[in-house]
Amino acid sequence: MLLSLLLLPLGLVAAETGIDAWLRYAPIPEAHKYAGQIPTQVVALNSSELSPVLTGAKELEQGISSIFGQSCKVNRWHGGRRGGAHRPASSIVIGTVAEYSSYAAKDSKKSIPKLVNDGFYLDTTGREVLILGSNERGALYGAFEYLSLLAQGNVTKIAYASNPEVPIRWINQWDNLRDGGTHGSVERGYGGKSLFFWNGEVRPDLTRAAQYARLLASIGINAVVVNNVNANETILNSTNLDGIARIADVFRPYGVQLGLSLYFASPKALGALTTFDPLDQSVIKWWTNITDEIYERVPDFAGYLVKANSEGQPGPLTYNRTLAQGANLFAKALQPHGGVCVFRAFVYDSTTINETVWTDDRANAAVDFFDGLDDQFMDNVVVQIKYGPIDFQVREPVSPLFSHLRQTATSVELQITPEYLGQNVHLVYLAPLWKEILDFDLRVDRAPSTVKSIVNGTRFNNPLGGFAGVAGAGNNQTWLGSHLAMSNLYAYGKLAWNADADSVEMLQAWTKLTFSHDQKVIDTITSMSMASWPAYEGFSGNLGIQTLTNILNGHYGPDPQSQENNPYGQWYRADATTIGMDRTVNNGTGNAGQYPPEVAAAYESVDTTPENLLLWFHHLPYTHVLKSGETIIQHFYNAHYNGSAVSNTFPSQWESLKPYIDTQRYEEQLFRLVYAAGHSLVWRDSINNYFFNVSSIADEQHRVLNHPYRIEAESMELEGYHPYLVHPFHAASGTYAIVTDTNTTQGTATALVPFPAGKYDVAVNYYDQVIGNATWELYLDDALVGEWKGDFEYSVGSARVFYIDGQSAIRKTFKGVDVKANATVKIVGRGDGMEPAPVDYISFLPQGVVD
Ligand code: GCU
Repeated sequence: MLLSLLLLPLGLVAAETGIDAWLRYAPIPEAHKYAGQIPTQVVALNSSELSPVLTGAKELEQGISSIFGQSCKVNRWHGGRRGGAHRPASSIVIGTVAEYSSYAAKDSKKSIPKLVNDGFYLDTTGREVLILGSNERGALYGAFEYLSLLAQGNVTKIAYASNPEVPIRWINQWDNLRDGGTHGSVERGYGGKSLFFWNGEVRPDLTRAAQYARLLASIGINAVVVNNVNANETILNSTNLDGIARIADVFRPYGVQLGLSLYFASPKALGALTTFDPLDQSVIKWWTNITDEIYERVPDFAGYLVKANSEGQPGPLTYNRTLAQGANLFAKALQPHGGVCVFRAFVYDSTTINETVWTDDRANAAVDFFDGLDDQFMDNVVVQIKYGPIDFQVREPVSPLFSHLRQTATSVELQITPEYLGQNVHLVYLAPLWKEILDFDLRVDRAPSTVKSIVNGTRFNNPLGGFAGVAGAGNNQTWLGSHLAMSNLYAYGKLAWNADADSVEMLQAWTKLTFSHDQKVIDTITSMSMASWPAYEGFSGNLGIQTLTNILNGHYGPDPQSQENNPYGQWYRADATTIGMDRTVNNGTGNAGQYPPEVAAAYESVDTTPENLLLWFHHLPYTHVLKSGETIIQHFYNAHYNGSAVSNTFPSQWESLKPYIDTQRYEEQLFRLVYAAGHSLVWRDSINNYFFNVSSIADEQHRVLNHPYRIEAESMELEGYHPYLVHPFHAASGTYAIVTDTNTTQGTATALVPFPAGKYDVAVNYYDQVIGNATWELYLDDALVGEWKGDFEYSVGSARVFYIDGQSAIRKTFKGVDVKANATVKIVGRGDGMEPAPVDYISFLPQGVVD
């Protein structure tokens, strides 16, 4: 007992990198209180060396010893007597229900509730804790559940069965075998390089891949598609097939199956056939053979994921075959082996739509492309549908395709890696967004038809179906690039298991497991996380006009113009007086009519469209008055101010947790939150300036373009620096920044501080591109206030930014600086590489002012 008391504080201060995520098994407060209540032995029933049952048993041994400082050794039972005389006072029995039948004596055998595939029964009420799976994987899930309860300090007597609602609980990794010839990168991943690939091949060392499988198994994930949906044929060469067999080997003890993304034209690109026509006999044979080869190496192979006829990927339409014929090509090859073909509904043609045509609409694409195919897919095809009709925007309505496919199994594609929502530099807890989608009732045939009831198969009676989560995990120690972002991975797994799981409950369990049991930590992380999606929506795109980001490059910072006038179809049609996509049947693209009648009727009319989707469905004047009484334009201004103000509370909320959180994780997260708070102001100003410029309607509160605490860099006295017109113009305060005269020389910008003497937070807004490491120094009356380097790109994994724009714009704040009357402020910048030490403005913010 003394030992565990001594260990407790050590556990709290021990360096943590984040790699253990929610599986830290940290010593719980007052562990000694539980002495005597915790089993001292694990009995693993008839498990082979690589069985998930044995994995679960070892996990219990490790977890219990770490949480309670108490040993709990694994004993393996292979038939015969049940532990005999040496049976300790209390044990955990882990195995499948079938093995338990032979293990338990007739008189003491419990009756086990009905379990579906992967389900488990957990019972802590008897002398032995029972963890019984419908299969081996289910037993492992039960072990993780029990450990999660213990790690949260929950030792109450419980007995329940837990069954997953869906069979497909998959992760999609968008990992590239090759990027620029060498590195295994992760498309839209912000947490480092691929866990699986390097230099075009499978990594020799798959330790991290195994750790990933453990993490995923602990939240009920049963398969991972390891390579990018933008696939190429090299994944199927024989070296790589051997490699993927090695990945499957490290996944197997965790019950995680492996899947592959396919390049539709592989028969031609790799197999040297002259065609990849899905109805051609040689093509069919080629896919049959390669599939057989995969199953020889990976007998439990999960199946294929196919992106076809989309964004440059070839597909069946290339040969005038239907998407169903394309999907069935793979489904047939997989069927004898029990594999699944997941065919993506993300099909659109970015070469033909044109914004000048009022009725053109990318949101119509999926339903248009899948029209008439519902009865043509084989039973082992699952159509995987992104949650909204466009592309993981900050808010979209549910994809109407969910209501069109009744005879076809479907899964919902969610993006855990927030490509359009701050790329794990900003904080955005996604469970509330996902739950809005899952709970949305499409009212098919005027009957309850939530998205969750469609993908779990109950609504249309489909035995297959489920969830795909695009995770973007990488090999840095934080997995996703940010500690707080891991709540999204955790919540994804929990929702895939049970779509009714509550956003706050998941978050709080995760917080306890990841950081601390302290109520202050739980409350603060809850408050920040639950405010984060609305805040991000507030400053990045409101009323359903999508995330107004740079869609041509990076998908990260503000750049609304990049969405208009190109064939990618993420338009919102802003002109001098009106804004929004008219998607009505009456006068627009007809997209509202793709929904079942009740929902269609609601979206058809301005009055009944939910306001957070108003401009998704309607084209309206900026002066249209919302239910709040605000006009649309004023709502934009207010929302951008409010959202960024919330983001600016996150750093101090996090700082209040300093005593409770280990140094590394605390500092790494603080760095991101401070940066994000500054970047939220860049978003706010950029989008507000843009809309003021387009509409010429002023902010009623006189905030937009009115920044009384700023000194514009271009208005300072410049030596070796010159003004630079930023593109887009609204990504710079006053449209200009300054840059050094050459990329390698020094520039100086000087000005008299026109503010009264006092204490200020001095904020410098500058730009940090990835093309060099410029340096800056800030002086007041020739005394150095601070210096810094343009090396942000090494600290975060968000999109690499080459330009001086809203994506590279960044703020450095020096807090509580004493400024004398008539002081002189000076910035000295030195260019480096191709980075000309750009500066936008300097703010002197009185205490408490955010601007
Ligand atoms: C988005 C994303 C791409 C991805 C595509 C897809 O457009 O930016 O990187 O390939 O979605 O889902 O296929």
